[in-house]
Amino acid sequence: MPTRVGIMGLGFMGKTHFDVYSRMKNVRVVAIFDTDIRKLRGNWSSITGNIGEGGVKHDLSAIRTCSRLGQIFDDPDIDVVDITLPTHLHAKIAIRALKAGKHVICEKPMARTSSECQKMIEAARKAKGKLFVAHCIRFWPEYAKAKAIVRSGKYGKVFSAVFTRLSSVPIWSHQNWMQDPKKSGTCALDLHIHDVDFILHLFGKPKSVTSRASGFRKGRLDHIVTTYDYGDNLLVTAEAGWEYPDTFPFSMAFRIAMEKATLAFQPDGLMLYPARGKARKIRVKSGDGYEHELRHFVGCIAKNLLSELITPEDAARSVKTVEAEIESVKSRSAVKLDF
Ligand SMILES: NC(=O)c1ccc[n+]([C@@H]2O[C@H](COP(=O)([O-])OP(=O)(O)OC[C@H]3O[C@@H](n4cnc5c(N)ncnc54)[C@H](O)[C@@H]3O)[C@@H](O)[C@H]2O)c1
Repeated sequence: MPTRVGIMGLGFMGKTHFDVYSRMKNVRVVAIFDTDIRKLRGNWSSITGNIGEGGVKHDLSAIRTCSRLGQIFDDPDIDVVDITLPTHLHAKIAIRALKAGKHVICEKPMARTSSECQKMIEAARKAKGKLFVAHCIRFWPEYAKAKAIVRSGKYGKVFSAVFTRLSSVPIWSHQNWMQDPKKSGTCALDLHIHDVDFILHLFGKPKSVTSRASGFRKGRLDHIVTTYDYGDNLLVTAEAGWEYPDTFPFSMAFRIAMEKATLAFQPDGLMLYPARGKARKIRVKSGDGYEHELRHFVGCIAKNLLSELITPEDAARSVKTVEAEIESVKSRSAVKLDF
């Protein structure tokens, strides 16, 4: 029997997940929840984002469309609740779904605050269903390949790693919730957390973080630069900004300098620049991180296993790290990580 999914939130990410599930033979989207009736009627023309394609018209006659929360939690034909709602709703919805006996796939960031993340972890520990947090960068082919190359040790130790993620102002979101710090945590928790999570995944916990940001004094945080303290022999930094004009293209990139080669992810793909020999493009798996993460989660659910690639505790640590970075911006000093 296919895994039956109910998607909650039919915006940029809801549509992205829907498109991935539509290509999976072992999954059926059986229900969609949203408060926007036009989208539930199949008019997806308003759905856009900073990556991938915009929305078109869809025939949803075979899918149960719901505008009341209870319709999803009470439905015995739903195995997995996939939460692609605004961030401030993640914890409340995930906990209800876990209590209703569902598996939960929740978009990143896990929740708006680390204390909400903790409540989700506690709910998941008591629940029959499993909790998965969709940190797609762990599954993004170029990032996953870079991690495998670094961990192989073939090119020696890492000296430095620099991550960047830049975007135009995110104006697509429902009633502009992304621009509301209380709902999204703005750029640091929404955009930058992708690299924070990958840095923790690749290098483990840093001793402390030191961050500077723009916009903070006006109650916003539109651009952040952080240095992660891994001691004197490894420099790790990440920069994320979303204050650029509409004409500015979305980009994500990294450079990882090792003893015998440098890896760089840039618009033309993942490149390896060896200390000896020629530069070459590294082949990676086809598809994107959304597809690989959702296939992985559905595989875990079929076997009733937690993911070894991203646990709820990992995702909560990423939120905690961003909170420490915001604290560092406020205090203008290094902040130790207490996990
Ligand atoms: N993994 C990624 O690359 C990535 C990219 C973008 C967003 N996200 C995350 O995905 C989540 C959703 O972001 P998005 O860009 O899809 O947002 P969005 O605004 O495009 O979509 C949110 C959807 O939720 C619905 N909604 C909003 N408030 C609601 C409410 N109170 N009750 C019911 N429905 C409501 C809206 O109608 C909309 O369809 C966020 O947590 C965001 O951080 C992840």
